[in-house]
Amino acid sequence: MMKSLKAAMLATAMVVMGLTAHAAETPSVALGKKLFNDPSLGGATGAKTCASCHPSGKGVENAWKNPNLVQQINTCIVGALKGKPLPLESVQMKSLVLYHQSLKPVTSR
Ligand code: HEC
Repeated sequence: MMKSLKAAMLATAMVVMGLTAHAAETPSVALGKKLFNDPSLGGATGAKTCASCHPSGKGVENAWKNPNLVQQINTCIVGALKGKPLPLESVQMKSLVLYHQSLKPVTSR
């Protein structure tokens, strides 16, 4: 009885750990939003975040239409945050794109 309980707890712990590790590798709107508010994005060391100039995504609501969205994100990381551009295929870049897409006004969905 105790033994199987321990085994069950161990199995649960392993699943939870697996999920957490997985979450870190999966692009998400939540991660994109976090990065949008992260002054160290792209290794930047200043106090600015994307949200400093685009508070809560203001001014980038239509960026989902922008065919050069990834390049524009990197332009702002390099130019505005003084960070390094993100690899286009990175989880961080994909998450930022998802976040921008989530800002799409409801009427144009
Ligand atoms: C110092 C202010 C500043 C900061 C910080 C900044 N931006 Fe920008 N961003 C601008 C300005 C100004 C424009 C408009 C450029 C233009 O369209 O000519 C712009 C444009 C954009 C656009 C294009 C919008 C569109 O409709 O296509 C995106 C996307 C964007 N920024 C994302 C970001 C992201 C992501 C960050 C954080 C890495 C960031 N910006 C940080 C000033 C800033």
